[in-house]
Amino acid sequence: MKFHKRKTRLPFALPDVGEREIQAGAKVLRSGWLTSGPEVQAFEKEFARATDAVDAVAVNSCTAALHLALEAYNIKAGDAVFVPDYTFIASAEIVLYGGALPVIVDVDRDSYLLTAEQLEACIAARCLWKNGQLVHKASGSIVRAIIPVHYGGRPCEMNAILRLARKYRLKVIEDAAHSFPADYDGQKIGSIGDLTAFSFYATKNLTTGEGGMLTFTANSASLADRVRRLRLHGILGQTYGRQRWQYDVVDQGYKYNMMDSTAAMGRVQLKRSQQMLKRRRKIHQAYNKAFADLPVRLNPSCKHSSAHHLYTIEIRKDAPLSRDEFVEEMYARNIAVSLHFIPIHRLKHYRKLLDLHERDFQAAEEIFQHIVSLPIYSAMSDNDTQDVIAATRNILAPD
Ligand SMILES: Cc1ncc(COP(=O)(O)O)c(C=O)c1O
Repeated sequence: MKFHKRKTRLPFALPDVGEREIQAGAKVLRSGWLTSGPEVQAFEKEFARATDAVDAVAVNSCTAALHLALEAYNIKAGDAVFVPDYTFIASAEIVLYGGALPVIVDVDRDSYLLTAEQLEACIAARCLWKNGQLVHKASGSIVRAIIPVHYGGRPCEMNAILRLARKYRLKVIEDAAHSFPADYDGQKIGSIGDLTAFSFYATKNLTTGEGGMLTFTANSASLADRVRRLRLHGILGQTYGRQRWQYDVVDQGYKYNMMDSTAAMGRVQLKRSQQMLKRRRKIHQAYNKAFADLPVRLNPSCKHSSAHHLYTIEIRKDAPLSRDEFVEEMYARNIAVSLHFIPIHRLKHYRKLLDLHERDFQAAEEIFQHIVSLPIYSAMSDNDTQDVIAATRNILAPD
């Protein structure tokens, strides 16, 4: 096959934003109300409906949503939270905001996800059950929660994780930054754990540039009012809808609210989300078919309904070149690729702070050594998809 190079660089990700999103944003800009208002309220209602959640609170990032989830349960200094090693750093850093300890857990080698087995192994090695509480032995901290990350859009095995959470009295706060819309066993992500945090960052399936949402289930719905206050300085009586000047501050809050222009864009994206998912699914299937005979480990399969946020391959040891060389060859062919993620145990600040060692994260380490993310987004054309396929085959199956 001859060297296949695109005329222009195919970006790794592009937002799928059209005239309807632009009009919705422009309408808000002309309305005279620029901060959180009726659009945010409507977006929350519609997002809760789309995820079968009891309630939803819009914020300015998934990081903020995760932080507020921990605040909602008063998880603070002296507490600990299980976080998978194979994730973006936001999943762990928010535990430190309130002074709690992230306990980093290796993931499953095949699915790349946090599993009940990995959690049980970590508990057996590093925790003890004392007076009805799970204690992290090295620090003496009480483990209060688990943050399962639905990496790439594939739901973690939630039934087993929920069983384990009940056994050890832990809250389940799902990091669903990659997983809207996704289903687990016919249940929508957002309606399963205690709280679920979503991201609307520029590269995400549903984007508002920056933005996030925290959804509540029947177990946690009573926390929603407080979370609404915490996202805006702890003020009782939010700006929108307030009569005259009166307000009071009843909680230590943050500045995490979403703007109406953001919400207006999100509402349009939400209406388009199933159609955008269909497009991602089609690209995913085309890649699976085209790469089946290559010396790669394909994107892990999923028995639930994935959001198809990422499409990854692992360059196997028997491939003609290394992962790093593959990345260079893709760029030489004008295809941008990426890597999700550098595991937490490899990040300097966290390695030092949490005393992390590679030997404790063998699965994440091995995945990281071989993985690469290929472009997959709804704004990609069939020709773009074929260019990725041609370049990948050209590199890995040269004849
Ligand atoms: C797994 C995961 N969690 C959390 C986040 C944070 O999302 P946000 O940028 O909306 O704060 C990201 C962002 O990429 C992510 O990949």
